[in-house]
Amino acid sequence: MALTTLLAASALLVPALALPPICPIGPLAPLSCHNTTAIKNTCCTEVQGQVLQVQFWDTDPATGPADHWTIHGLWPDYCDGSYTQYCDESRQYTNISCILEAAGKYDLLAFMEKYWKDDGGEDESFWEHEWGKHGTCYSTLNPSCYTDYKPQEEVVDFFEQVVRLFNLLPTYDFLAASNIYPSATKNYTNAEIMAALHKVRGVNATIECDAGQLYEVEYTFNVKGSVADGLFLPASPVGEGNGCPAEVQYLPKILSSTPTVVDSETCSVGLESTTAASTDTPGATARRAVF
Ligand SMILES: *[C@@H]1O[C@H](CO)[C@@H](O)[C@H](O)[C@H]1NC(C)=O
Ligand SMILES: *[C@@H]1O[C@H](CO)[C@@H](O)[C@H](O)[C@H]1NC(C)=O
Ligand SMILES: *[C@@H]1O[C@H](CO)[C@@H](O)[C@H](O)[C@H]1NC(C)=O
Ligand SMILES: *[C@@H]1O[C@H](CO)[C@@H](O)[C@H](O)[C@H]1NC(C)=O
Repeated sequence: MALTTLLAASALLVPALALPPICPIGPLAPLSCHNTTAIKNTCCTEVQGQVLQVQFWDTDPATGPADHWTIHGLWPDYCDGSYTQYCDESRQYTNISCILEAAGKYDLLAFMEKYWKDDGGEDESFWEHEWGKHGTCYSTLNPSCYTDYKPQEEVVDFFEQVVRLFNLLPTYDFLAASNIYPSATKNYTNAEIMAALHKVRGVNATIECDAGQLYEVEYTFNVKGSVADGLFLPASPVGEGNGCPAEVQYLPKILSSTPTVVDSETCSVGLESTTAASTDTPGATARRAVF
């Protein structure tokens, strides 16, 4: 009898074992890409622990303000520079704006509408693409890592963290501090742009060009703890080459070429049948799908 009771009691305790782990926080949190044995708890240490905050300089069509770079995304890479993508089909959401509105993140959304721009005007689709392709791959943002998980809260965490990091990385100002301004007539050397970006963080950034024109910068981090609320430490990029020639054009934005936003959503917050009146079809990707 006693044994049966005991077994019954322990059976009741089984769900407790499925609770999210308690992770060390602050300085005690493990740093990604610095583990010396296999990661035991992928909620506490990011498996794709080389995290890249990627920014665009779109000139024609132009996106965003003339004196500000824009957000491309926050990409998880393994520590050798390889990566996986589209990690969870069940979380390929087509209602990012609605998810953020339902969470009350109106300021975040307004910021994204200004600084996280698609060059075809499909901002919502672009956000969906970045979340679905990259955001779903963070091990520390897996729903199983949350205590008291509320559906899509990891999506909100992802977008908040991207914007937070982007705000700490004002590329236009970083370059301007070394007297590098957009110019239609003057070229810059690859080396002086690299030096300007190295100066502000103490590690290299990665720059990308198309036909000699600078259009992207990637800032590499390792993370102590979760991508949701961990400490992001600048790291030297591993695996990404320098994608620019020796001489680089940093052109001014042609603001008259700025596309009109074509896919904003209408959300019915609080209703059971949420209408995300996006023009997107599920799985649709922005023109940047190649990235
Ligand atoms: C760190 O953890 C990852 C994931 O478990 C593993 O693939 C990698 O080999 C580990 N690194 C070392 C040096 O053990
Ligand atoms: C967003 O879409 C998902 C999947 O269809 C749905 O479960 C969720 O309720 C939607 N959220 C909002 C706020 O519309
Ligand atoms: C800048 O670089 C571009 C592309 O390589 C080249 O066509 C142009 O002549 C250069 N301009 C100057 C001022 O050197
Ligand atoms: C940083 O970039 C510069 C310029 O491309 C390169 O010479 C240097 O080796 C890089 N430093 C590291 C630590 O990779």
